[in-house]
Amino acid sequence: MRFIDLQAQYRAYQPAIDAAIRAVLESASFINGPQVAQLEAELARFVGVDHAVGFASGTDGLLAVLMAWGIGPGDEVITPAFTFIATAEVIALLGAKPVFVDVDPDTLNLDPSHLEAAITARTRAIVPVSLYGQCADLEAINAVAARHGLQCLEDGCQSFGASQQGRRSCGLSAAGVTSFFPAKPLGCYGDGGMAFTNDGALAERLRVIREHGQVARYQHAVLGFNGRLDTIQAAVLLAKLPYFEAEIAARQRVADYYQTRLAGRVRLPVVLPGNQSVYAQFTIQTPHRDAVQHHLALLGIPTAIHYPAPLHRQPIFSDLGHPEEAFPVATQAAQEVLSLPMHPFLATEEQDRVVDALLHVLP
Ligand SMILES: Cc1ncc(COP(=O)(O)O)c(C=O)c1O
Repeated sequence: MRFIDLQAQYRAYQPAIDAAIRAVLESASFINGPQVAQLEAELARFVGVDHAVGFASGTDGLLAVLMAWGIGPGDEVITPAFTFIATAEVIALLGAKPVFVDVDPDTLNLDPSHLEAAITARTRAIVPVSLYGQCADLEAINAVAARHGLQCLEDGCQSFGASQQGRRSCGLSAAGVTSFFPAKPLGCYGDGGMAFTNDGALAERLRVIREHGQVARYQHAVLGFNGRLDTIQAAVLLAKLPYFEAEIAARQRVADYYQTRLAGRVRLPVVLPGNQSVYAQFTIQTPHRDAVQHHLALLGIPTAIHYPAPLHRQPIFSDLGHPEEAFPVATQAAQEVLSLPMHPFLATEEQDRVVDALLHVLP
């Protein structure tokens, strides 16, 4: 059994993917080939925004948006204490200070009730994360951002395809960024990412930043870097895109089956009303996490921990001076979360094996 079965996915779409890659090889347009602009247009339409800008990774996309907003030394950016390192890393890379807030115990997304207390005169932006494939409470978060004149960037690196009140993740705030890392709901065959916005000036600036700040050939007006999305990766994504809606439905079926069979036996993912999760991960919470993971591993069932430490306990952020016991929800989550095998090709019989093993080992 695989945690995420990319081989099964490749076998299912092989002719389309092979042809897409071959077309790039034959054209030799590896950098800024036409597939990149085509993918940007199709995904902007999918998300329901005016502009999409491809990046070499989700991390690059997040970094570029914060650069475009001029975030730098002396600025503070609010983000959840429980997320993948990249979310806070890009803030620190620009010399700004990541200001952590705790997460909601059910969704493990940023808890908007902590926002006001975290805002200071130096706050410039909020970067909520739509963790495990479910949008953060962006309505509440955007409202706080608007009240205080702050930018809001949705880290949608795990939530591409999710929706909130019928609108897609990455299109619900001033900007949204996703990742096409292979294991993501829409993944390519290497690194890739994309930024989304309705702000035409921001989109233009992002295009310049991802190309070394170049406004005309060898004229560099702003500080940028090499953040381009590879043509081959764009071609792979275009080949996979026609199957994506069916994969979202399959993910929902897999999640529903886990939810039904495990109900009442363990803390299950909570999807709030109005949200549709893409279940980038199906993550349970149990105080017996390490024993459960060990038992499943002995039975050949792969699991993963997203993430074993809250960000304030990462050595790189020790200089922020947070006590160990800060952010209690994030801290407890890091001790209790366990992600189960989850992908659109997971068979019911495989899920039965996972569930039976869990029911056997859970107290
Ligand atoms: C929440 C979150 N933010 C940012 C990233 C960074 O994306 P990438 O790996 O494409 O740089 C990821 C994924 O890896 C992620 O899960």
